Amino acid sequence: MKSSLLVALAAVAPAFAHYNFESLIVNGQSTGPYEYVRRVKNSNSPVENASSPNMICNVGGNDADSRAATKTYTVAPGAQIGFNVNANLGHPGPLYVYMSKAPSGVSASDYLGDGEWFKVYALTTDRIDPNTGLSWASFPNSQGITNFSFTLPQNLPAGDYLVRPEHIGLHGAGTFGGAQFYMGCAQIRVTGNGNGTPSPTVRIPGFYTGREAGILINIYWPPPQSYGSPGPAVWPGQCEDHTPNPAGRTSDGDCTPMR
Ligand SMILES: *[C@@H]1O[C@H](CO)[C@@H](O)[C@H](O)[C@H]1NC(C)=O
Ligand SMILES: *[C@@H]1O[C@H](CO)[C@@H](O)[C@H](O)[C@H]1NC(C)=O
Repeated sequence: MKSSLLVALAAVAPAFAHYNFESLIVNGQSTGPYEYVRRVKNSNSPVENASSPNMICNVGGNDADSRAATKTYTVAPGAQIGFNVNANLGHPGPLYVYMSKAPSGVSASDYLGDGEWFKVYALTTDRIDPNTGLSWASFPNSQGITNFSFTLPQNLPAGDYLVRPEHIGLHGAGTFGGAQFYMGCAQIRVTGNGNGTPSPTVRIPGFYTGREAGILINIYWPPPQSYGSPGPAVWPGQCEDHTPNPAGRTSDGDCTPMR
């Protein structure tokens, strides 16, 4: 009885650490769950196949019913936008945000994310210790953060976009296919007259093979002394953040140094 209970608990326990990006935050104000973020259809589970089309907007995120039920938030360049997580980012690993512009004439809700994507935000390590290795800014004291924000670039061209937060759980990433990808797609309409050219761009899937040094990595032993982000450099600053910007608190910027 006792051992079967333990087996049952062990089977159930990992699910508690799973999560979704369920709502969009704009300038500190949270929107409703799946109001501006496409609903996913795999509960809170991660995608583990980096080559799968599910890497775009998660399982179900590109389905017609999910897209039709999702509104598009109109926002100006330079706004602080971000996401609330259901549960918390409960695994060690980096947090990125990718964006992709819908072709002209295609609304965000009709866009399947099959065009070019660029990385607009990266929140990685907050500390590297010679003995214990990597500490993660999204997982301080082994407790995942529940929300974060970043600044939409001032020179972002106007138009409809998908905004795709991605957290990579690296706790089992020592073997190929062991990294857990958590992502979702919000729909926004950017106003203004930004004239930047987001680059470099990538396609999803295809942007990761799953064999990158930042994806196929044993984070426990030997303790890594550096971390190299997979995927393209961040546009426009080519920098990484090392402290999160929680909703409701003044941002300390998107390019902060490690502790
Ligand atoms: C990963 O996804 C690709 C594309 O859908 C598929 O061809 C491949 O078989 C999948 N790999 C595994 C291990 O499921
Ligand atoms: C955002 O995260 C901060 C810090 O963890 C927390 O204090 C705050 O309540 C969170 N806000 C929302 C809207 O979830």
